[in-house]
Amino acid sequence: MDAGVRRFCNSQCSLESLLPQAVRMLLFVLLALGHATQGLPNVDDVTIPPWVTTTTEASRSLGPVDLDVQLPRSIKPLHYVVKLQPFINGNFSIVGYMEVEMEVLEPTSNITLHISDIITKNDTVKVSDQATSRGLRIKKHEYDHSRHFYIAHLRKELQKGKRYILSMEFLGYLNDKLRGFYRATYKDVDGNIRNAAATQFQPTDARKAFPCFDEPALKATFEIHLARESG
Ligand SMILES: *[C@@H]1O[C@H](CO)[C@@H](O)[C@H](O)[C@H]1NC(C)=O
Ligand SMILES: *[C@@H]1O[C@H](CO)[C@@H](O)[C@H](O)[C@H]1NC(C)=O
Ligand SMILES: *[C@@H]1O[C@H](CO)[C@@H](O)[C@H](O)[C@H]1NC(C)=O
Repeated sequence: MDAGVRRFCNSQCSLESLLPQAVRMLLFVLLALGHATQGLPNVDDVTIPPWVTTTTEASRSLGPVDLDVQLPRSIKPLHYVVKLQPFINGNFSIVGYMEVEMEVLEPTSNITLHISDIITKNDTVKVSDQATSRGLRIKKHEYDHSRHFYIAHLRKELQKGKRYILSMEFLGYLNDKLRGFYRATYKDVDGNIRNAAATQFQPTDARKAFPCFDEPALKATFEIHLARESG
């Protein structure tokens, strides 16, 4: 049924169209890691090539209804690098790192991202000029809970036409509400119950996995790394 609409996007995929595919692959990897044998390194990085999507134009137009809460249009994300380490057999937290390269469309002195059920490690947040690698001072970190915003207020304005990189560490949570990046159990071949991480990204759920510009109009490319816990 979706054979005709399955397609590749060479460099630009929107967040909500890319993640379901990427994350199905992550789920597979997590399940596989559940069976991982001794002798493997403790951390396996898995890079998901960011060019596969199965989203249809029809499903894309089924946008979230609660979005009179658009992000400012002053910044456009270009490329994300995301590293997630879910502790599926421990405390169900996700230790995360993300960086995003952005282009400034209009001068602005804040960078506003979506987060939900995520705690940003504020003292790890860094903003730098991509061309010079020079860091920019952050004046204040703010959460707008009703709109799911994390806002980094900068001392100086970002300049139109320039590119900047924001990076941060964060903490997430494998919740059991079947949204975002959630936890699940399954039976292995020997009948043992095992924990796994799974996902169901609705249009507003990517923000539960990592801080991002979680809107269909803001297309970007992704590199996602997944680590497993040791032991
Ligand atoms: C969960 O466990 C990991 C590994 O022991 C630890 O690094 C992390 O800080 C813990 N998370 C929380 C929220 O306690
Ligand atoms: C962030 O900047 C945008 C664009 O300059 C502005 O519209 C918005 O109100 C600012 N957000 C906050 C919380 O100051
Ligand atoms: C980061 O800043 C926000 C907004 O001030 C605050 O609510 C949150 O607790 C801070 N996070 C940490 C880890 O301190």
